[in-house]
Amino acid sequence: MSQLASRRIVLGVSGGIAAYKSVELCRQLVDLGAHVVPVMTADAHRFIGPVTLSALASEPVHTSLWDDASAIPHTQLGQTADIIVVAPATARVLSAYATGSSEDLLTATLIATRAPVVVCPAMHTEMWEHPAVQSNIEILRSRGVHIVEPETGRLAGGDIGAGRLASTEKICAEIIRVLGMSHDLLGLDIVVTAGGTREPIDAVRVIANRSSGKQGYAIATIAAQRGAHVTLITTVDRVVPSGVTQVQVETAQQMKDAVDAAALSADVVIMAAAVADFRPVVCADQKLKKADGVPNIVLEPTPDILAGLGQRKPLGQTLVGFAAETDSLVAHATAKLSAKCLDLIVANDVSAEGVGFGHDTNAVVLLSPHMPAMTVALADKHAIAHAVLDSVVKVRHQQQESK
Ligand code: PMT
Repeated sequence: MSQLASRRIVLGVSGGIAAYKSVELCRQLVDLGAHVVPVMTADAHRFIGPVTLSALASEPVHTSLWDDASAIPHTQLGQTADIIVVAPATARVLSAYATGSSEDLLTATLIATRAPVVVCPAMHTEMWEHPAVQSNIEILRSRGVHIVEPETGRLAGGDIGAGRLASTEKICAEIIRVLGMSHDLLGLDIVVTAGGTREPIDAVRVIANRSSGKQGYAIATIAAQRGAHVTLITTVDRVVPSGVTQVQVETAQQMKDAVDAAALSADVVIMAAAVADFRPVVCADQKLKKADGVPNIVLEPTPDILAGLGQRKPLGQTLVGFAAETDSLVAHATAKLSAKCLDLIVANDVSAEGVGFGHDTNAVVLLSPHMPAMTVALADKHAIAHAVLDSVVKVRHQQQESK
């Protein structure tokens, strides 16, 4: 059992009742061969004594920005860690990390590292479900932080609900997974699109759709984590994922111009955006007046960005489309795969519960002439992103074989 041999893990413990479980986690990580460096917040001391963690970890507990032997302990801890794990992470620590405030050794270490970070929240259900906490989780996730969600079960007050720290086994499995995650996209130039285009009707009105950009952002985030150089062309204004170059656009034509330029040197293009199929022929300079009656808005087709890329695809480029369908998912997606000369299409049935527009989750079928069809059941959009990128790797391998 030495899956974590010679791995240096900074184990951050913050002040919640679940702090006692960090002792078991610490022991398990040491048993798996890791060198565990414990860091406790002042509040964590109210729940467990530092001596307990010091006795089980690989070195004594670090607690303060000022008391440590090193002059700048947070950068030393952050720079030497292979991974940082925060278990339990309280609402306060999540907030400090999301806003970048470095008020104590743990939060300063979190923002002074380039190592991957696994955060394991634990708190009462009401706190966990509060929009402020959920928004901090979303911010951290979009920056590539790995979240091990709390479980549902008996909480400190005896009540039952979501918020209990994930099991030691689950946290260890995530640490092993993250550390083992290869940089298999290193050196690849990947263009990803996200969000729905907005086609102007007049000075204030647009034709839009329900795309939130979550799926495209998840793909950009994971692709960057796996080593790719990522350009994200987006119509939505979300937090820019770490290491990603973002280009903001609004209309289908602007998206086409940006994608066409970026695609010239791209190894992979992934069109997750929901591009309008039609736009008004004329955009009125002024706001159309209600008093003038119902306007007659004449529409024309927008350029099909993906089909254009398919027609002039350079050798070695991998072109990935999405298909948003409400019926005959595989049949319609297969038709788009061949009509647009794609290497891979990600088909989602957007009429199904939790799938597609606006949700944090998605469920897809991956279709390609280069590999057998693959179904990915309902999962977080970041997990779907991993599946899409795994397929990109397979498809590129096949493309290179058949050169
Ligand atoms: O953004 P979220 O809220 O996370 O939702 C994700 C999603 C539902 C938007 C995403 O999973 C998805 O399905 N994106 C594609 C939506 C779409 O426009 O599908 P389509 O079947 O109409 O188009 C097929 C493909 O052609 C798409 O890759 C699309 O980007 C592309 N296209 C479409 C029209 C056009 N004029 N130019 C294009 O390039």
